[in-house]
Amino acid sequence: MKILRTAAEMTAWSNQENSQGRTICLVPTMGFFHEGHLSLMRMAASLADHVVVSLFVNPMQFGPNEDLEGYPRDFARDCDLVERQGGAVLFAPDHEEMYPEGFQTQVLVRKLTSPLCGRKRPGHFVGVTTVVSKLFHIVKPRIAVFGEKDYQQLAVIRRMTQDLNMDIEIKGHPIVREPDGLAMSSRNSYLSAGERQAALCLYKSIEACREQVRKGKRDSLRLIDGIKIILQSHPAVAIEYVAIVDEITLTDCATVDRHSILALAVKVGKTRLIDNGKLIIE
Ligand code: PAJ
Repeated sequence: MKILRTAAEMTAWSNQENSQGRTICLVPTMGFFHEGHLSLMRMAASLADHVVVSLFVNPMQFGPNEDLEGYPRDFARDCDLVERQGGAVLFAPDHEEMYPEGFQTQVLVRKLTSPLCGRKRPGHFVGVTTVVSKLFHIVKPRIAVFGEKDYQQLAVIRRMTQDLNMDIEIKGHPIVREPDGLAMSSRNSYLSAGERQAALCLYKSIEACREQVRKGKRDSLRLIDGIKIILQSHPAVAIEYVAIVDEITLTDCATVDRHSILALAVKVGKTRLIDNGKLIIE
């Protein structure tokens, strides 16, 4: 496995491979890998000749009071894990390489970024779409894989590639969970034992909501009220949002149907966690 630090080296490698007709699948990440990231890498390996993993903790997508400084990092371990999944290249640029002096361009997807996490984290998705656009131009992949854990991010990236005619296929990967149901996240490492237990309320409320829907309850506002009661029963949990939205447009659904997603964001202590799931599974 190669570790490349500059955009020039990365693009030269990709040009060489693309010119030989070998396909590249990109997995963009911010590192501190868990089984969710590794599963994306394995999916990528099944889709193309080469897997490129990018590792860049992107300051542009963090708000002023968010956890950029404390974001968990372990570069040596991450390198080892990419190598074990059969990754061809780990692209790990530094801040100067991605945002040299004079940098001033942004990529903005409008409507899809206004609800849910976009409302709670102003500027976050501009940071995501700008860095992912740069990564797409530097790595020149045929395919890129993103997790459904960050459901709005995946929808926004799909929209961006379509709107800007980027010739890259976007593949979604299902949420990878701990055995007890907690969605894997690099930020789970912040949780104390008690918070880790409380964090299970996210998955439990998705399951409880599915059960209500199975019983024939379809009114979103009532279902949301029921979920809020579950979440509020944990003193360490503060709700950011609970929404039932259409899987494509991310607009609120008044009534649950086959295209409805339950999307949740909470703070458990100081740690922000998100989760989501379809309400009708066929
Ligand atoms: P990061 O949080 O490191 O996540 C990298 C990729 O792993 C994303 O596509 C995310 O959705 C996916 N992922 C994380 N946890 C997952 C889980 N439990 N199951 C399935 N997929 C999971 O998302 C980012 O980085 C950044 O915003 C990035 C796209 C790299 C842009 O900076």
